[in-house]
Amino acid sequence: MSKQTKPIAVFDSGVGGISVLRELVKILPNEDYIYYGDSKNAPYGMKDKEQVKELTIAAAEYLFAQGAKGLVVACNTATSAGVRALREKYPEIPLVGIEPAVKPAATLKPGGRVLVMATPMTIREEKFRNLMAQYSDDAEILPLPCPGLMDFVERGDLHSDDFKKYLEELLYEYRKHPVDAAVLGCTHYPFAKDMIQEILGKDVVIFDGGEGTAREMKRRLAEADLLNPSTENGKVEFQNSLEDEKKIQLCQQLLQM
Ligand code: DGL
Repeated sequence: MSKQTKPIAVFDSGVGGISVLRELVKILPNEDYIYYGDSKNAPYGMKDKEQVKELTIAAAEYLFAQGAKGLVVACNTATSAGVRALREKYPEIPLVGIEPAVKPAATLKPGGRVLVMATPMTIREEKFRNLMAQYSDDAEILPLPCPGLMDFVERGDLHSDDFKKYLEELLYEYRKHPVDAAVLGCTHYPFAKDMIQEILGKDVVIFDGGEGTAREMKRRLAEADLLNPSTENGKVEFQNSLEDEKKIQLCQQLLQM
């Protein structure tokens, strides 16, 4: 097997990274993918940085051992904790990490109000603080840690009254004092986009980093001459640390959404 025909690995703490995988499949349809979710150790966003860094490195090594030619860290939390260490350890491997799409949101409307929803760890970390400082002249950036949001998505509980109630309480303040844009800074959240939009109001522009991350991976693979020359559609293999058939089924459903 030539290097170009090897799979791209996509990693997340659970099923959220499928919101990035679906963008990858759109722009790189001829690639094969291994999607690995570490649901057994999720949520990462409630852990400390060292723990998440170790889990991220372990997951990357597990995926490289399967022959992956590149890695997308499709988890904002894992990116902020572990991507720097991974790049140092594996400088030769195309590696892209996702981060909250603050730039397009903050530059949308000068002086606008931008809500950034992410895990408690992402919001606490230096990487996000730097990102926020970079755009604080463009817009008023309002970070909102969302403990518990990813758990609804992990359970596939996307349309229940409980979920709606949870989101209404979480977003209460931003319903009263509307924002111009909202950034979904955790890869689980795009699966709740419709409900978030309904609660925040239809004029709020919602951003996530999935498409930008997929485009960056394409660019990196092209640069390294690692794009798959195949003209057939590639395949996606799902793996999860929980080894639960139901989780794999949920992964397949989310990819179709
Ligand atoms: N999907 C992850 C992210 O993008 C976080 C979910 C978790 O807390 O594990 O940040």
